[in-house]
Amino acid sequence: MARWWAVAAAASSGAFADTDVGATGVGDQLSSKALTKESYDGFAEGYDNLDGGWAASAIGLEELRSQLLAGATGRVLEVGVGTGLNLRHYRRDLVSGIEAVDLSPGMLSQASSRSESLGMERLVKLSVMDAEHLGFPSEAFDTVVDTFSLCVFSDPSAALREMARVCKPAGRVLLLENSKSDFGPLAAYQDLTASFLVNKGGAKGCFWNQDVEALCRGAGLEVVRSSPALAGGLFRTLECAPAKGS
Ligand SMILES: C[S@@+](CC[C@H](N)C(=O)[O-])C[C@H]1O[C@@H](n2cnc3c(N)ncnc32)[C@H](O)[C@@H]1O
Repeated sequence: MARWWAVAAAASSGAFADTDVGATGVGDQLSSKALTKESYDGFAEGYDNLDGGWAASAIGLEELRSQLLAGATGRVLEVGVGTGLNLRHYRRDLVSGIEAVDLSPGMLSQASSRSESLGMERLVKLSVMDAEHLGFPSEAFDTVVDTFSLCVFSDPSAALREMARVCKPAGRVLLLENSKSDFGPLAAYQDLTASFLVNKGGAKGCFWNQDVEALCRGAGLEVVRSSPALAGGLFRTLECAPAKGS
């Protein structure tokens, strides 16, 4: 996740010192997607120390996850599930089943352990799958969830179009993402540094300056609610619906 706080925490703790996205040495020969997979397989064991650790809680990310997931109902698809940091936030009285997909088997292995420790094995099905080419029929899910992966996807618009496609017409796409701040000078700083920071420290291949609302609209989603958090929207929670006629 390209988060300024993650980069700062990584720098101070020494975590991820050897796990820059571009540090494989074979990057030129790999497609960006294969590189993402390989990188996240490498991040998997240490991922929760930063993205699910004290720094994340201190700046309110656990609370944002919890608020977002309280809105998940029925049959759920979570894309880019990672190590499953969202799993404990799903309301088991509202959710009938969770398909959870990710490109990285290493991240999914951590998610599998988490699902087991939470006693959710029967509720959660984990699969290796590309969010940009989902292997599910159209209109299959009541809720589609993505948190902090849009900034990492090679083609975020394609992933959002897929989320819109597999969501039922009356369903919801729930997002919690890194996004461009509404505060002009900060947004300009994000634009200036995004390409540089994407491969640094704790950034983990994430472009932190995406205009998430515009991406959603461009992908055929209606933005029902968009709530900025932290410094004018460095994080943003969105509730979207498949646009009528899309
Ligand atoms: C920054 S992590 C976010 C993980 C989790 N959603 C969270 O909130 O902690 C991004 C995740 O997206 C996954 N990912 C990247 N590109 C993907 C793709 N095309 N399809 C599915 N997963 C992908 C990575 O493997 C990684 O687990």
